[in-house]
Amino acid sequence: MSLSTNHSTAPFGRGQCQTIDLVGKTALIDAHWQPRVVAEMNDYQFKVVKVEGEFVWHRHADTDETFIVLEGELRIDVRAGPSGDTSIVLRAGQMAVVPKGVEHKPSASAEVKLLLIEPRGVANTGEGPVSERTVENDQWI
Ligand code: NI
Repeated sequence: MSLSTNHSTAPFGRGQCQTIDLVGKTALIDAHWQPRVVAEMNDYQFKVVKVEGEFVWHRHADTDETFIVLEGELRIDVRAGPSGDTSIVLRAGQMAVVPKGVEHKPSASAEVKLLLIEPRGVANTGEGPVSERTVENDQWI
C-alpha cells in the first residue's frame, strides 16, 4: 500500500469557505478506521472517521494528535503520557490532544464518529509497521 502524499486528490479550495457537515461526511465512509480528509488549514488536515473495536498501539514521533468526538464514546489508552499510564474517555462534544511521542490506542465498544486534526502526511498507525490498519493518506470525502 502506498503511503505517499497525493495532493492531487484534494478538491479545489481544500474544503475552505464552505459549510462542512462533519457527521454527514462520516455517513459517506463505508468502513471503520478509515479516516477521510474534509478540509485543510495551513498544513493541518481535518479528518472524519468512524471507529468501532480496538485500534493498534502506536505513536507519532513528530506530531501531537487531536481527537474530537462527534457521536459515541471513545476510549484512548495512553502509555507513559504526562499523567503516566492512563485512559481518556471522550463523549460527544469532548476532545483530547495526545502529545507527540506518546503511545496510544483508541478503542470503542460501539461505533464512534470523530474528527481528527493533525498535520498533512501523518500515518494513522504512526511510526509502527504498516499493517492492515494502515490507511493511505489524503483520501478526501
Ligand atoms: Ni494516533
